[in-house]
Amino acid sequence: MRSDWTDLPFEVLDGIEAHTGPIHRTEPAPAGNHADIASNVDTASGRLFVKAARKVSPEKDGPEVRSLRNEARILPHVTEFAPRLHWTVEAGGWLVLGFEHVDGRHADYTPGSPDLEILAKTLHALQATPCPEIVQMQVERRWETVTEDVSPMAGTALLHTDVNAENLLITPDGRAVLVDWAFASRGAAWVELGLLLPWLLKAGHTPAEAADWVTEFPSWAQADPADVDLFSTAFAERWRRHAERNPAEWVALHADLTRRWAEFHRGG
Ligand SMILES: Nc1ncnc2c1ncn2[C@@H]1O[C@H](COP(=O)(O)OP(=O)(O)O)[C@@H](O)[C@H]1O
Ligand SMILES: [Mg+2]
Repeated sequence: MRSDWTDLPFEVLDGIEAHTGPIHRTEPAPAGNHADIASNVDTASGRLFVKAARKVSPEKDGPEVRSLRNEARILPHVTEFAPRLHWTVEAGGWLVLGFEHVDGRHADYTPGSPDLEILAKTLHALQATPCPEIVQMQVERRWETVTEDVSPMAGTALLHTDVNAENLLITPDGRAVLVDWAFASRGAAWVELGLLLPWLLKAGHTPAEAADWVTEFPSWAQADPADVDLFSTAFAERWRRHAERNPAEWVALHADLTRRWAEFHRGG
């Protein structure tokens, strides 16, 4: 659940204004759900994007703070794709990240959308980027609880792991900026495409159309279909279990999309 900008204690606001000068106006971000606060912020030194999370206690980070710390560590190593991180503030039990504001709209993944070409270009570039040493999360570990052998998903490629349409901003001049790097991981390159598939389905692609779309990526085309089957089944099973515990509508939808993909892939 998001908090409101006005929840920030004075010492945090002071810390931010030390970097930006007086804050004139704030406006909540139109999407996302991890950070406690995500806002566009107009300041004396210009417009910024700010994400903030509250610690569990002065000594203890919660999952949102851990995600922000991770994102702050990774961002300086993926500047080709991501917004700049200008500063961080830690005060009053909060961690705050101040980003370059990207003037952009969410990508449109519906079939036939010209944004799909921009997405493809971004993914090709991402797949060709060596994984920075700092990125240490191993993507295959996500599926350890649902399948015995996760080694097919392991690898050394840089994976963003959450290239949904709300994390890909398209600027008025057609540039793509990928946000939300908290869960960037290392793994087999094709896993990035596997994780993207439910977002293509959500935007209206049939599983067959989505399968066709990802084939242009060499990592996907060369992946062993048995490995992709194992991944697809594990991916769907993890979301099925997640939906059992979490009644949120978007979780049920993701469980359904991953199930549809897995059934299609097994059948094909
Ligand atoms: N640097 C930025 N500039 C402008 N808008 C941004 C920026 N980063 C993120 N956003 C917007 O805020 C939303 C939430 O940010 P995101 O980093 O995805 O947070 P969350 O982890 O909560 O999903 C994004 O979907 C996007 O619309
Ligand atoms: Mg997001």
